[in-house]
Amino acid sequence: MSIDDAPSDVVSSDPNAEGYREFDLGGFHFRRDEFFAHISWPTGYHVMSIDTFLRALQRDVAWDFFYGTVNFDHVFGTVNHYGTVDMFAGRFNEAYRKAELDHLENYETPLIRDTFKAMLDDWTIAGFDPFASPAETATPFGAKAGSNTAAVTRRRVTAARMVGVPGDEAVRTDETHPINRMFADVSQDEPEVHPEPGFENEVAAFNLFAYLSRSDVTWNPSVVSVCKNSLYCPTTEEYILPIVHGNDRVEWFVQLSDEIVWDVQDRDTGAARAKVTMRAGDVAAMPGDIRHQGYSSKRSMLLVWENASPELPELIRTGKASVYPVEF
Ligand SMILES: [Fe+2]
Repeated sequence: MSIDDAPSDVVSSDPNAEGYREFDLGGFHFRRDEFFAHISWPTGYHVMSIDTFLRALQRDVAWDFFYGTVNFDHVFGTVNHYGTVDMFAGRFNEAYRKAELDHLENYETPLIRDTFKAMLDDWTIAGFDPFASPAETATPFGAKAGSNTAAVTRRRVTAARMVGVPGDEAVRTDETHPINRMFADVSQDEPEVHPEPGFENEVAAFNLFAYLSRSDVTWNPSVVSVCKNSLYCPTTEEYILPIVHGNDRVEWFVQLSDEIVWDVQDRDTGAARAKVTMRAGDVAAMPGDIRHQGYSSKRSMLLVWENASPELPELIRTGKASVYPVEF
């Protein structure tokens, strides 16, 4: 989508001195210049580096606000209520709360979705890919110069059953997805499948490691298999998760290769709770009341296992379901 196709309910200005449009959503105002995103609201003002802001915005848009809270940093972010979305400043920051400077507004999902999409498209210049590792993209800095609509509107992989099943998401090939520089040693063998006649549409298999070795994006859990509400969402990680994800349910992590270090904090206050180093083969469950941010020195493969049941946030909020997956 280019800015010209943006729905008319998106409120934006003409280009400012640096060539970027400014956006309004409720009481929030957004402005970018050569280096920063400037966010203001009735009780305050916040500034973020534009690279951090665009990387977070890209994920919030692509994941359609994801599960629970997407903190862009320690001040600004969104909470998904699956139909409406909260946008907040300081809501999950104890100092802002105590000073009563926090601010939160709720919008119908289409309005914030369209505003964020238009802002992401207008503020991303040619050569910058917010989904790419910083080692594989140009910088986002400087005055407005071109755009990168193809990158910021990438289709997210969401299998209906499983990658490789006839009619579903396709296995990746050299033509569509070259092997990433960090996964040159990953075997590209594919399993042989010999279904009984009549079951060709039901029996499938694929090499997940080979599939992930061809991912051109980072920190982007994509759905590769579905069993009712059980979603396998593997992703490849390099550098820093550009958001701090606040859970509204338990999330399982299976470290498939290499190493990620996680900072785990209290979801509501940001107080430190744990530092978790996960190496290949490690399995962890992120509780339903935390926020977490990961660091991956070398491009690694992580399997995120999500329970997509729409009842979970309410069950946890009312104490009917635990924030832990298992009690020992
Ligand atoms: Fe998460």
